[in-house]
Amino acid sequence: MSSNLNSTEKAPYVLVLGMGGTIAGLAPNPEENLLKYQAGQVGVGSLLAHIESAIPEGVKLVSQQLANINSRNLSEALLSLLGKTVKDSLAHSDVVGIVITHGTDTIEETGIFLQLTCGKYAQDLGKRVVITGAMLPANAPNADGPSNLLDAIRWASTPIDNCPGGIFATMGGRACMAMDLAKRHGTALNAPLQGSPSSSVGLINPSWLSGVKAVEAVWTEDFPIPGEGEWPWVEILTSHVGARPETVIQWLGSKVNGLILAGTGMGGFHDAWKAPLDQAISHGIALVRTSRTGAGSTRPDIPEKDSAGCMASGTLSAPRARIALQLSLNAAKQANMVGKPLTWQDFFARIANLPEIR
Ligand code: SIN
Repeated sequence: MSSNLNSTEKAPYVLVLGMGGTIAGLAPNPEENLLKYQAGQVGVGSLLAHIESAIPEGVKLVSQQLANINSRNLSEALLSLLGKTVKDSLAHSDVVGIVITHGTDTIEETGIFLQLTCGKYAQDLGKRVVITGAMLPANAPNADGPSNLLDAIRWASTPIDNCPGGIFATMGGRACMAMDLAKRHGTALNAPLQGSPSSSVGLINPSWLSGVKAVEAVWTEDFPIPGEGEWPWVEILTSHVGARPETVIQWLGSKVNGLILAGTGMGGFHDAWKAPLDQAISHGIALVRTSRTGAGSTRPDIPEKDSAGCMASGTLSAPRARIALQLSLNAAKQANMVGKPLTWQDFFARIANLPEIR
């Protein structure tokens, strides 16, 4: 479904893709309870109509509703559709930039997915893709969606100092690389950017910008977007007090392709997992270690030497590491099909070794 604002004269334009989320949510009793609401109720065309008078002069918008869901229900098939739509739209000479309205619960996964599949392409074209969302439903008295959406439209459409093309996000008056989104608070207004390296939307922080450029300098090739039915099966297991070997053993006879181990502290896991994880490797299951702490990095051979077949995630959180491993497994499979002897580790290392923005 697609709808146009300024349909009489629409090129060049910013494409606004609607995915749903709280930004498109409605609360039955907004004056009484803002925590009880349904995400994904309002169409993206209506969200834009609501802010039409504030849209910067000369900026034309075209909207397209890809989904209208609570993002906790986001599927891999929908990520494939989003990635393909972004890539195809970036290629269109009339599109100056892309904004995506998205639920914040899994915006972290979509952020890294778009960086790894479309980041280099957007950068080469000098176009910005900007994800945004909201923590309050659209009918809340102080809804944050309209200002977040306006910031995203400005970020996607206007020259900003010397900010390059790429995959970004805006929320709560701040901007970050979309791969740095991390919702680490259930209700705070700026939750997806809280604690992420970011800059004020109004006044670009030069050290953040040089971090963006450092990441973009080493991200030299996008990964292929898996087709709808091609996503490798990867699960996340969390190590904890009293962790049992059965948590790992149950996957040994399954078709699972990879496991993300959300370990304690620096990414260590319970000794009870050691033997079944060695078996998992011998079954051809890819392993990635990360930390359940939600911050910091997981380094190779710390706290213990890694087995061959298990990689440390660098700064990737468990949800991001999961997407990164899926894309790496898929990229290796595609490379092998054309005779290139590359492994998932070759691809994953490119992601885990990206520079950290401070
Ligand atoms: C969702 O992720 O769709 C609901 C929560 C939110 O957008 O903040």
